[in-house]
Amino acid sequence: MTGFDLQSILDAYGGPPMAGDAAHLNPRFLDLLRLTGFDRRFVGGEGAVLFDERGDRYIDAIGGYACLSVGRRHPVVHDALEQALRIAPPTLVQFEVPPLAVALADRLKRFVNRPEDRVFFVNSGTEAVEAAMKIARAATGRAGFAHWSNAFHGLTFGALSLNGATWLRRGFEPLVPGCHEVPFGDLDALRRTLADESIAAFFFEPIQGKGVIEHAAGVLRDVAEICRATGTLLVADEVQTGLGRTGSALASDQDGVQPDLVCLSKALSAGMVPVGAVLGRAGIFDRVFDSIERSVVHSSTFRENPLAMTAGLAVLQVLDDERLVERSATLGGRLADGLRALAAREPGIRAVRGRGLMIGVELDPRAMAFDLPGFGSRTPTLVAQAVCLRLLAEHRVLVQSTAKSSAVVKIVPPLVLEDADADRIVEVFAATLADLRRGRGAGLRGLLDMLHRAPDVVLRESLR
Ligand SMILES: Cc1ncc(COP(=O)(O)O)c(C=O)c1O
Repeated sequence: MTGFDLQSILDAYGGPPMAGDAAHLNPRFLDLLRLTGFDRRFVGGEGAVLFDERGDRYIDAIGGYACLSVGRRHPVVHDALEQALRIAPPTLVQFEVPPLAVALADRLKRFVNRPEDRVFFVNSGTEAVEAAMKIARAATGRAGFAHWSNAFHGLTFGALSLNGATWLRRGFEPLVPGCHEVPFGDLDALRRTLADESIAAFFFEPIQGKGVIEHAAGVLRDVAEICRATGTLLVADEVQTGLGRTGSALASDQDGVQPDLVCLSKALSAGMVPVGAVLGRAGIFDRVFDSIERSVVHSSTFRENPLAMTAGLAVLQVLDDERLVERSATLGGRLADGLRALAAREPGIRAVRGRGLMIGVELDPRAMAFDLPGFGSRTPTLVAQAVCLRLLAEHRVLVQSTAKSSAVVKIVPPLVLEDADADRIVEVFAATLADLRRGRGAGLRGLLDMLHRAPDVVLRESLR
């Protein structure tokens, strides 16, 4: 028997996170956790629920950044991974066609109803985007890329080159040359950008993750037509929206478009083993991998490993067996209806957006904020943070604020969220917004909450 004891390692390192722990990793991230109330330790989780060390129950509407679709500790996923360890098919032979990769590709294509595609497996969302960029360049012989403003496609160099946020790009430039940002939804600007036929691919998120921003009806059909007319590949980044998040196997189906390439990741992993995939028309893939030498022209060591493939296979089975795509649509509808009914009487909410269980609640900083001298454009973030902090600290609901320029609180729970917990999210929003609107508002109260939690961090950040 081995002397390895995982529990004792967790016991030794698993107290509330302290500066000494963070010094091994990223001390400034611990500052962020202290400001936002996340400097606590969760010790267990099941479905859409987390438990802290006192046994308190939290509703998790962050869902591991929208990737825990089947929920935490799903018994089928656990059993599948245990089977994979027990059966132990040889891992990373490399010069083989791994049966589990074949099985996952076959089932994934059926799940998203793209039976003619080929599949290229990767290890993460950003790697799916990198692969799609390389495939698009090699298949078209064109160098350029285009994307919407406010886009988020990941943070490695290629994906970051398609990112709409200057604060994320700053310090890492120069990025990939030939990447063009198009104002979100501006079809004329897109036509102009693609007109000279130098753009290999246009990347889009069916619903933008930052701020949960939806396209106007029909826009994506027009985008698809513009791409077709200019020979530009249309790439749907469904890393977040795909596999049921929006109430459909692919969100782009709901928009009536058939992208040339589709990037997937997040949900496929069950939150357990990183995995991602690019699906695309065979003709496109075959222009990239077009000879024996070039059959390995894009690859990576771990991409078809048995645990990742098993996690993906188990996820697809659970999504089917538990009808979670349909559940996402109905439960998301119930949650959004509840929030919209609240918005009708609550001046602190400006809009409720999204589809299925990808919901954004845009707060109205004017109704919520006391104007803070010197805070200017940071006030919306502060307002959203104040709401998130209260939801966590007082009501034990995990949500995140997503956009820098607007006050949007994002709700992307596991699709197995219970009905009662969906209703509770609406209730605690109502209580929190009513509370933060009173008196001097969320801006000031948020700042005071943060000052109270971490005065050193507030001081250091305001001196920067
Ligand atoms: C639409 C989209 N694309 C790509 C990514 C990057 O995925 P990863 O964090 O796995 O690299 C994300 C992550 O949030 C995403 O939402």
